[in-house]
Amino acid sequence: MWNEMKVRSKADQEEAVDYFPSTPKDSPISRLVKFVSFLVVFMAGVVLGLSVSAHYTRYFNSHTELFFPRTEYAVSCSKECFSIKNFVQPASLMHSMTDEELFWRASMVPKMQEYPFPRVPKVAFMFMTRGPLPFAPLWDRFFKGHKGLYSVYVHTLPDYKLNVPESSAFFARQIPSKEVSWGSITLVDAEKRLLANALLDFSNERFVLLSESCIPVYNFPTVYEYLVTSKHSFVQSYDEDTKQGRGRYNQHMAPEIMLTQWRKGSQWFELNRELAIIIVAEYKSYSLFRKYCKPSCYPDEHYIPTYLSIFHGSLNANRSVTWVDWSRGGPHPARYGAPSITAEFIQFMRNNGTSCTYNSRSTSVCFLFARKFAPSALAPLLNLTSTVLGY
Ligand SMILES: *[C@@H]1O[C@H](CO)[C@@H](O)[C@H](O)[C@H]1NC(C)=O
Ligand SMILES: *[C@@H]1O[C@H](CO)[C@@H](O)[C@H](O)[C@H]1NC(C)=O
Ligand SMILES: *[C@@H]1O[C@H](CO)[C@@H](O)[C@H](O)[C@H]1NC(C)=O
Repeated sequence: MWNEMKVRSKADQEEAVDYFPSTPKDSPISRLVKFVSFLVVFMAGVVLGLSVSAHYTRYFNSHTELFFPRTEYAVSCSKECFSIKNFVQPASLMHSMTDEELFWRASMVPKMQEYPFPRVPKVAFMFMTRGPLPFAPLWDRFFKGHKGLYSVYVHTLPDYKLNVPESSAFFARQIPSKEVSWGSITLVDAEKRLLANALLDFSNERFVLLSESCIPVYNFPTVYEYLVTSKHSFVQSYDEDTKQGRGRYNQHMAPEIMLTQWRKGSQWFELNRELAIIIVAEYKSYSLFRKYCKPSCYPDEHYIPTYLSIFHGSLNANRSVTWVDWSRGGPHPARYGAPSITAEFIQFMRNNGTSCTYNSRSTSVCFLFARKFAPSALAPLLNLTSTVLGY
């Protein structure tokens, strides 16, 4: 203890010596030098002070204005930035908020029951992609004529610039994106980023996560009605006693998350506004996943299914509305190209003989979207929009 203190104080001294070199002992000459330098500094201060106050007005009228036109900016901002319209539905998707700032803002909930504007619930279609969206033309047909009932958000690789015509629903819909490495927590971060950006629009009521290989298998009115009037959100969540299920659980998550509570499910979720806010705001379980759901765990397949199952199970239908074909086995689902696209195949995806529960009733309409499709499927799908797909 004593030695430590001695060592520390020696180090402190050395540090102090480095930062404040010792001054030589005072001599008459050094005193004169000090007085002269004080005088010079004092005079300089007086001159500077006088000139600044004299030129203050002119300086700000000329130089600053040139670089920062303050008055103009202030005027346009008081009209636009603080309008209720821009607050409940930001005009531009681009912003400079960090994730931390964005999640904080997006998780705010108005205390009042009534909205001070006519609120029509919208469905937010959130696309997670590295780059291109080969099925954008198909989605554009799906969206056509339903403006005001949907909004589109696209998360790409940070530098990717989506190239779509101005008339497309995807035009200027990219959100500030970050690097994503598949199978890591950064994928969950990107999902939360999509949710948070979509939450900034107060009219968004349902939030669907989609990939670049997803297509809609029903028309817009059917999808809209199905989602907006559903009492539940659609997040697949199940217990699987295999290496790819319970095998990915990490003991360190106990006691907050026990093995029996561990769930698996498709990443492609659908959430209502209430749960979307909860997911964006949630940090306790998220940080356990961030810490302990490491390689070969895949947080995007476990975090939301497990968290919802423990804390908000009654709000979840526990099934996905996105059809996918795992029947071939292996780590990836089947991917369909041009030769597979027929009217019969679309009917099969819509109703493959299984039934499911919707608002506590049994129904054969279980899937609204489907994956995975190769870009070659676009042309034959466009060929079937008016006859089979209904859009
Ligand atoms: C979904 O699962 C939870 C348990 O995780 C359960 O409480 C809930 O009732 C299920 N939802 C439906 C619609 O069956
Ligand atoms: C229908 O699709 C679901 C989801 O992909 C699958 O679980 C089920 O086995 C399929 N049923 C038939 C008869 O193919
Ligand atoms: C479109 O459909 C017509 C008949 O319905 C067919 O002859 C044609 O080959 C199809 N085109 C594509 C690209 O699938």
